[in-house]
Formats: sequence, C-alpha cells, structure tokens
Amino acid sequence: MAHQSEMIAEDIHSYLKQQEEKSMLRFITCGSVDDGKSTLIGRLLWDSKLVFEDQLAALEVDSKKVGTQGDDIDYALLLDGLQAEREQGITIDVAYRFFSTDKRKFIVADTPGHEQYTRNMVTGASTAQVAVILIDARKGVLTQTRRHSYLTSLVGIRNVVLAINKMDLVDYSEERFNSIKNDYEAFATQLGFESITAIPVSALKGDNIIGPSPKTHWYHGPTLLAYLETVDVVNDVLSKPFRMPVQWVNRPDLDFRGFSGTIASGKVSPGDEIVVPSSGQTSRVARVVTMDGDLPHAIAGQSVTLTLTDEIDISRGDLLSAANERPAHADQLEARLVWMHEDPLLPGRSYLLKTGATVLAAQITALKYKVNVNTLEHQAGKTLALNEIGVCNLSLGKAIAFDPYQENRGTGNFILIDRLTNATVGAGMIDFALRRATNIHWQALDLNKKSRSLAKAQKARVLWFTGLSGSGKSTIANLVEKKLHSLGKHTYLLDGDNVRHGLNRDLGFTDADRVENIRRVAEVAKLFVDAGIVVLASFISPFKSERQMARDMLEDGEFWEIYVSTPIDICETRDVKGLYKKARSGELKNFTGVDSVYEVPASPELVAEAGTTSAEEIAEEIVQKLLAENGAQLLPEGSMW
Ligand code: ADX
Repeated sequence: MAHQSEMIAEDIHSYLKQQEEKSMLRFITCGSVDDGKSTLIGRLLWDSKLVFEDQLAALEVDSKKVGTQGDDIDYALLLDGLQAEREQGITIDVAYRFFSTDKRKFIVADTPGHEQYTRNMVTGASTAQVAVILIDARKGVLTQTRRHSYLTSLVGIRNVVLAINKMDLVDYSEERFNSIKNDYEAFATQLGFESITAIPVSALKGDNIIGPSPKTHWYHGPTLLAYLETVDVVNDVLSKPFRMPVQWVNRPDLDFRGFSGTIASGKVSPGDEIVVPSSGQTSRVARVVTMDGDLPHAIAGQSVTLTLTDEIDISRGDLLSAANERPAHADQLEARLVWMHEDPLLPGRSYLLKTGATVLAAQITALKYKVNVNTLEHQAGKTLALNEIGVCNLSLGKAIAFDPYQENRGTGNFILIDRLTNATVGAGMIDFALRRATNIHWQALDLNKKSRSLAKAQKARVLWFTGLSGSGKSTIANLVEKKLHSLGKHTYLLDGDNVRHGLNRDLGFTDADRVENIRRVAEVAKLFVDAGIVVLASFISPFKSERQMARDMLEDGEFWEIYVSTPIDICETRDVKGLYKKARSGELKNFTGVDSVYEVPASPELVAEAGTTSAEEIAEEIVQKLLAENGAQLLPEGSMW
C-alpha cells in the first residue's frame, strides 16, 4: 500500500494500534453507475491510498487501454469486479469496501441502485450511519433519488450527504447547485433526516472529494472526505438506553450465573438497575465480566457477561434493559416490512420472526398499505412481492421486548424466515406496539375441552382431508361422518365449498386468500375441538405451511392429516363440477393443479388412494384406524374412544 507501507514496514505495532484507536464510520453510497458512483468510490479508495501499489500500476495501464477517460485514470475500473458480478446476474450481495485515512476507518456498502435491488440496498444500509446520495448535476432530483432517500430514511439513517456530481459538466454553476439543493430539501422534509449536507463534486476530476476545489470558490462547506472524517455518529448508539439481548445463560458451576450477550445500545456499569421486560422483575448489575477480567463499564458493541445481585428468572432471548428507560413489551405490533423473496408475502401464514436472540412464530394480520418507493404514495394491496415495502400489523406467538426502530435500530429490527425452507423472506422495522391487543385477556373458563369431550364420551380431534379438487375428499369425509354419527359420536363437517358461502365468502383463490381461508378454518376447527367435537375438515389446502399451522394449533395427536391422493388425470376425467374444463380453457384462473400449486404432504397420518380404492373402503379404513388408535388411549370409562 502506498503511503502507509513505510509505517507498516518500520513499525507494524504502532500502525496496528493507530488503526485500532481510530473511530469507524459505516456509510452507503446510493446512485447508479451513470451518476458516477463507481468513480466516486474508486476515487475515495485511490486518494486514501489504500490500493495496492501493483493494482495502481495495472489500473493506469488498463485505463489507457480502455481509454474512456483519455490519459486520466478511470476510477470506475477499480470496481470492475463487482460490475462483472452484476452483469452475470448472480445473486447480488452487498459489496463492502474498507478504507482508512489518518483520522478514521470506513466501511462503504456499495449496492446497485436499480429498483430490483431494493432488498440489497436495504441490507447494505441497515448498519450504515451516513448515506451519500449521488445526483447528476445535469439531471437533478430524479425518481431514483427519491427512492434512495426513502430507503435511507426507512432504515433509520439520519445524516445524508447530497453529492451533486458532474459539476464539471454544468460549468460549476452555483445556481444549478442551489436549485438542486432546494428541490431536494423540499422533498426530504417528510423523511425526517437530522442533517442534509449538499456538496458540489466532480468524482471524475476530483473536485471537493478530498481537497477543496478552486472551481467552486462560491462553496464554503466541507469536502466529501472532510465531512466523512468529522461527522459525529459515534455517540448515537451510546446515548440510547442500555439494552442487551441475552445470547446464553452462562452457568459453569453453582457459584456463578451470568448472562452473556452483545450490548445493543447504551452502556452498563456495576450498580445499574436493570429490568427483564418479560417478567417485569428488576435487579442490579453486580459485575461486568469479560475474558480479560472485570470491567468498570461496558458500551454498545461489546460482548460481556453480566452477573446480577438477585436470583431472578432470565433466559436466552430476554432483553436486559435499563430499569428507568424500559422498552415496549407486546405481542401485536405495527411494522414496516421489506419483502426480500421471490415468493410473495402471504398474510395469515405463520412465519418465524427473529429479533435479537429470540425466534418465535409470527403472522401478518393485516397489510395496511404498500408504499410506492418511487412516489412514496400509499397503495392498497393484499400481498408484497419481492422488493416491495408495506406497513403491516403482526401478531406474535408471544410478547417480545423492543424499541421502535426509529428510536433504536438495534432493538427495533427483525427478519422473517420461511418455516419450511429457512429462507429469509423479509426484513422489518417496528413502528410501535398495538395497545388494543394487550387489553384482551384470556378468559378462564370452568369447563374445558376435557370435560366437554368426557360428556360426549369421545376424544375430540380433527380429521383433515387434503387433496386436489375432485379427488374425493368431501365424499369420503361425508361417509366417515355418517359412520361416526351412527356410532353415536358428535361430529361436524367443515367443507371448502360450504364455508366459502358464509364465513369465507369474501375470499377467492389467490395464494393469499387460500392462506386466509385455511387460517380461519383452522381457528374454527380448533374451537370445535375445544367444544369436544370430532371435526372433519375437507379443503384442498394446497400449502404445507398452512396445514402445518393447523396442526400446530392443536395438541399432539389431535390432528390427522389425510392425503386424498387421486392423480390429477383421474380428477380431471371425473370433473364433477366442470371446473377443470374451465381451467384448461383459461376461463378459470388459479385452479389448483392447473395453474396453481398443490404441495403434496410429506408425512400425513394416512394416504387415501382414492383413484383406485372406493370411497366406502377408505372411509371404513379411517374409522377402523380411529377405533384401533383410541382403544389404546386413556379414555373416559364406558366410552369406545
Ligand atoms: S383452498 O385451496 O382454499 O383450500 P377450498 O377447499 O376452500 O380451497 O375450495 C375449493 C373448492 O372451490 C373446489 O372444490 C372447487 O369446487 C372450488 N373452486 C373454485 N375455483 C377454484 C380454483 N381456482 N381452485 C380450486 N378450487 C376452486
């Protein structure tokens, strides 16, 4: 490396120490290649001299060869590796680049600027403290500038640099600069930035990047590098209340019980009062323990083990917090959600939500609106597609402790994970807790499921029939119900076609509507089980996820998945309702098996080969299996099962 190489050679220890003591700034650059983004980053890397010397020599040769900049060096070539990646269309991850000056260390997140890379930009920006938004001085504030600024504010960045680039192409016009600056400031008032610093630059010529440019004598603000070197962001996370998610409870022997984790915000010292939001219990910090001994205090970013003065209940996932500045604690939230997966969001589906050290079940109960990232308009919508952003209500399996994201990025963010594939499907920023939910308590009732089933001398459960339309689900379910009825059992049959006339009459056959259909039916089935009844549910229920959700709502053994496995050509030949014909002709859209998926059950309790076996035989088999199974279980005296 050029200017630091001598120091590294002569005194590696002082070099490393100097590096270690420098503060670190993370920033993101927003703009497209056309705006000169690559040239800008290239120049920062170049001028901070953190480019290997042989790379420099190669660059000079290359730029002469490529020749886009005459005899000047084409800084954009420094970033060619990344561009090649883009052109190949491989999954685009965020490229992080490191460089340092005498005053600071920097990490730049470089993400492509187009709309289809929204998720990359959000990922890259989520840890950044500053955003450098590039504008081409000839073009001014564009749609993409608005999008980048919205995303920047969405992820909680408060300090923005407006790098008005290519000033050389507008004759370094002060008037042009001011008019763009004013346009931008007028637009950005709605985004809540703390500071907007507009700088006239030419990344290509180097004006106001490192040193002040004589060509913009009318400009008296900082150069880009001077700004990046001095902007105060370090105290930001330290001034927030103390928060530490417990990663694990450290209990090597009976005498020691500590809680380990990385401090998300604020500071902590022995004597500080802390609270465990899940229980409301408080205690005081006794020691701040690390591998290198006890500390008098620790700050955000440090990994420590805390011991407390009292024995209180704390487990992995709890958010230890300053007792006088408590986080919110709720199981219903409003959040902003960026969708990151090709498979769209399905409200009602059960996802896993991960925040801090906690993972739990979560459903989107309502998509309130989508945000058009280009115009910032609110739009109605039932689902979010890849790169779309929406404001939604979430319902969680249990309450979590958090802060609104705009107050504390470290404790207000989450990701959503698909339960079956484990893929990250969304990134969220919590707005606030929905109070209304906290006032609804579970009403304790004197009679329960057990007493109600006992009165009926039966074990309540759900027989869930799934399969294609025309597979014979309803026919079989109907026969089973009759048989059970004649055995004196109390049953109820929930059937797709029927339920869709009443409870679910507002739902159609999009993926999102099917998810909601099954969610409601599963809730109803659960109520019937609680009433002590044997429920037969006959629904295509094409998605594994929702069948799993229905199963998870019940106790072990209460849910029997019966896969009515009739090959589609047989269903289609039967075509009792004439729907396959319509679907094939294109008259009916989203028809299961034709242009909408059916996910075959992986391990159902029973597979009914209804293409080759008669409905009567299958129904009898199901009843016999029930009788056999229940004979072996603890049953109320005098009952068959
Ligand atoms: S599910 O997919 O949401 O579980 P459900 O079992 O409630 O579907 O309803 C399926 C019934 O609706 C079918 O038996 C058929 O009679 C009718 N139907 C109408 N349109 C469609 C469609 N596009 N896809 C599947 N079934 C449809």
